[in-house]
Amino acid sequence: MKGIVLAGGLGSRLNPLTKVTNKHLLPVYNEPMIYYPIRILVNAGIDEILIVTGGNNAGEFLRLLENGNDFGLKHINYTYQQGEGGIAAALSLAEFFADRDKIVVVLGDNIIEGNIKPAVEKFRTQKDGARILLKEVADPQRFGVPVFAGEKIIRVEEKPVKPASNYAVIGIYMYDYRVFEFIRSLKPSQRGELEITDVNNFYIKEGKMQWDLLDGWWSDAGTFESLQAAGNMVAKTGANKI
Ligand code: DAU
Repeated sequence: MKGIVLAGGLGSRLNPLTKVTNKHLLPVYNEPMIYYPIRILVNAGIDEILIVTGGNNAGEFLRLLENGNDFGLKHINYTYQQGEGGIAAALSLAEFFADRDKIVVVLGDNIIEGNIKPAVEKFRTQKDGARILLKEVADPQRFGVPVFAGEKIIRVEEKPVKPASNYAVIGIYMYDYRVFEFIRSLKPSQRGELEITDVNNFYIKEGKMQWDLLDGWWSDAGTFESLQAAGNMVAKTGANKI
């Protein structure tokens, strides 16, 4: 299984903090944001990792992370996303790296208290398809939101005005090799991006989507409020606990 951290995009919601640097290099309490998603993968036992960067100061990732020694890695792979075509557009750049293996994708601004290893182990033994992680939240309209029929997810809605549940689809996704075929058929959404939610809906339509609830807290860090909240939570309890 291979791991991919998506750290492209322009971080425009954090302007002017992102005017001269990449969002994922900003501090979350005592470490750069990008450290947290890398540890999510490493703690799940994944040591082949690709970082998709983009926007300003992409070269600084290499300066900061080098070959991944600080994370116990021997090597880190890097690639560059031009512009801000969306999460699925950034993921499409990982096709060559994935080489038909199963992949775990982590958004570069997602931070968790615990460890996703149990879900990753289930995905390892899952024959094919995809797996997503859900967390109950107070503000589901900011996220991808699952629509349930009983225990089954029948659809995910991206930032719905009237959320059908109180759960967010967090930014950690597990896919088989067909993800790249699905991405090729996507059309840009109203916000002009290739949406990861549309990718998830492909798997759901085919009856190939599994899900788990995430233990411990989860936060994104892409707005001023969530960046501060994530920093406070890391300061209070620590993150990426094994
Ligand atoms: O955090 C979880 C949420 O992330 C999900 O619930 C949503 O379904 C999903 O669409 C996403 O929502 P956001 O609107 O918050 O995503 P955002 O545009 O902030 O991008 C999140 C990360 O994805 C960002 O830190 C880097 C990466 N990204 C994003 C874009 C738009 C890229 O690598 N390239 C891109 O072009």
